Amino acid sequence: MSREPVLAATRDELAAGLSAWRDARHRVAFVPTMGALHEGHASLMRVARDAVGEGPVVVSVFVNPLQFGPREDLDRYPRTLSKDRETCAAEGVDLVFAPAVGEVYPGGEPQVTVEPGPLGTILEGRTRPGHFRGVLTVVAKLFGLVRPDVAVFGQKDYQQLTLIRRMVADLCLGVEVVGAETRREPDGLAMSSRNSYLDAGQRRDAVALSRALRAAAQAAAEGPEPALAAARAELDTVGSVDVDYLVITRPDLGPLPEEIVPGTPARALVAARVGGTRLIDNMPLILGRTER
Ligand code: PAF
Repeated sequence: MSREPVLAATRDELAAGLSAWRDARHRVAFVPTMGALHEGHASLMRVARDAVGEGPVVVSVFVNPLQFGPREDLDRYPRTLSKDRETCAAEGVDLVFAPAVGEVYPGGEPQVTVEPGPLGTILEGRTRPGHFRGVLTVVAKLFGLVRPDVAVFGQKDYQQLTLIRRMVADLCLGVEVVGAETRREPDGLAMSSRNSYLDAGQRRDAVALSRALRAAAQAAAEGPEPALAAARAELDTVGSVDVDYLVITRPDLGPLPEEIVPGTPARALVAARVGGTRLIDNMPLILGRTER
């Protein structure tokens, strides 16, 4: 049976909603989201529950203007709070924090923000300048408000996850960051709130991204170049997929070494426009042939 989570719209309501838990010294788990919740988010909530047991699971629903560029989809980003609350209730979430923009940014755009450094300028950061500054700033603020012990993010946004881990380490924020596996539709498409923008034809074509990553993973034993070629061949089969980047990096997003030692872990990442919608996906892979 699902129980209605407490709904907090203000900082005071959030603090009041968490005070009994804090008094009882429970560990707090936190799942930051922008809403439009789907099974991918629900799986993050389950990971959060596993991390704290009886302790509270807090989900924030906040479409953060600071991480959207001027020509991006801030206005049309789906806002579905009542449905989101049902999803949270079904997953046994204890508190939903759904603040207005003025509650998070009472003085307007903040003067002090979190600078993501060089990792924020590659891949997504190259196409979306300022995006990760916005993400890290809001995540730091939400961490300050919720004060979680554990925070759960999806591996689907792999660069975001990597940067949040870096921020927590570099700024000594004392939050355990858990990266949860990407949830996929039965045909392989990574779950994303932006999938709702796709029409039927685009939805069919969008599967090329995950097919490409799978092809890369399968060819990875041959090395990075054959893996990229296998992925590129999959993407080339679909005319409407306009690739922004397709790369293989170290798991920390740094460049691969010149010499690949068999069994080297790596990450394949892709971003593409399908119709007007920008989609991203990634997969782990192991480079170089290893003896069985
Ligand atoms: O991944 C998201 O939904 C957002 O970037 C996040 C982490 C909630 C920050 O707004």
